[in-house]
Order: sequence, then C-alpha cells, then structure tokens
Amino acid sequence: MSNSIYLALDFPDWQTTGAFIDNHELHGIPVKVGMELFYKEGVSVIEKLKENGHPIFLDLKLHDIPTTVNRAMQNLAKLEVDIVNVHALGGSEMIKQAKEGLLAHGGHHETKLIAVTILTSMDEQIMSEELTLPHNLRENVSHFATLAERSGADGVVCSVHEASAIKSACKSPFLTVTPGIRLHETNHNDQKRIATPAFARRNNADMIVIGRSVTRANDSLKAYEQAVKEWENGLKH
Ligand code: C5P
Repeated sequence: MSNSIYLALDFPDWQTTGAFIDNHELHGIPVKVGMELFYKEGVSVIEKLKENGHPIFLDLKLHDIPTTVNRAMQNLAKLEVDIVNVHALGGSEMIKQAKEGLLAHGGHHETKLIAVTILTSMDEQIMSEELTLPHNLRENVSHFATLAERSGADGVVCSVHEASAIKSACKSPFLTVTPGIRLHETNHNDQKRIATPAFARRNNADMIVIGRSVTRANDSLKAYEQAVKEWENGLKH
C-alpha cells in the first residue's frame, strides 16, 4: 500500500481505534493521531501503533510561545514519530524553536516538522471577515509556507488547491501535506476546500490525510483501497 496516505484516526479512545483497525484489516498503514485520541490515551497510543508498524503523523498543531514549543517538541521527539506539526501563525521564532526542540533529541530518527498554513475548514470569507487577515487566501497560504520554510520547517499542511503555488514559492523537497480529501460522492462534512486523491496527486500534494471518507464508509478497507487507487491513478493523467 502507498506510504503517502495517512488515515486520520479521529476516534475517542484506543478501544475504538484498535477495534477499527482490526475489523477493517488496516494494520500497518500510515496513520494520523490527532488531539482527540492523544488527549485521551497519551503516549501509550503512539507506542501501540508503533508496535503494530504504523508510520505516524502526530497532529497536535502546537501554537504557544517559542520556549514552551521548544520544550514540548523535545518531549515529542522522544516518541520518534514521522511527522509532528505547529501552526505557522505562531511565527518564525516559534517554528525555529520547534525545530530546535526536535533536533535536541539527537539519535538517528528524523521527525519531520510541518506547519499548518490556513486550516482547510476555513474559507476566504471566514479568513477575511472573522479573522480580518489582509490579502486573499492563496496569498496568505503562500506567505505562511515561505515563512515556515525560512524558519526550518520541512513542509506545510495546506489545501490541495494551494499545493502547486507553494511548490513554486518554496524550494523542493519542501513537503505539501493535504487534508480535506474526499472520495467521489462522499459527504464534505465541515471541510470547505476539498479534493479527491487523484486531484491531490496531480496538483503537487506529496502526502494526503483522509479521515471520514474512509472511517465512516460502509466498508472502510474498500474505501482506503479506493483512496490508494485514486492516488495512484493521479499520476497517470
Ligand atoms: O475527516 P476528514 O478527512 O475531514 O479529516 C481531516 C483530518 O485532517 C482531521 O483529523 C483534521 O484535524 C485534519 N486537518 C484538517 N485541516 C488541516 C489540518 C488537519 O482537516 N489544515
């Protein structure tokens, strides 16, 4: 199975998560652990997933003063997951300190640091009217991406629709990780800027995060396999 499709394990606890993985035979696939599951189970959920061979993206979206983020990252680094993240809105010093905190751990394992640009649940209207951010959404996303790159991040979380602009603005191999993925004919839920896996692949996403399209499908294994197939087909056109 492809290594680039992270399944969002947005479940309330380990019991539900473990049962889901077992029931749908999704052992060993790349997974994303978010706040809901981590705040319930803590480090043990990471240890269990690692024992079962899952590559892990730990999605805690840190956003605090630089010193606090540095120290938090020193602790997260010990978990030796593949990806952790911060909000780019925390600014350059915070991102730099996040990277330094990760590197302070030493050792052979490299945990990549990625920065969230603008959440894919936001649209232009929320961004300008509620948050009163100047410029349009695409400009802000590209700005946050270059800020993150300059500050030592390895990539960004962005919408598929912004991945190509980010690739042009930043140097390769700066990673684009894109949530807001939907298989054909599934509910959009609260995501505003969505796309299919094939569209993501064609439009410069290096990795995708997929959640409810798979976890809420009648047959989750089939839905995950469909996502892999669509991702692979994205290269063919
Ligand atoms: O269910 P769905 O496919 O919408 O899941 C999206 C996952 O990606 C959620 O776990 C959410 O926290 C995460 N995410 C996101 N937008 C971002 C960053 C992460 O939707 N910008």
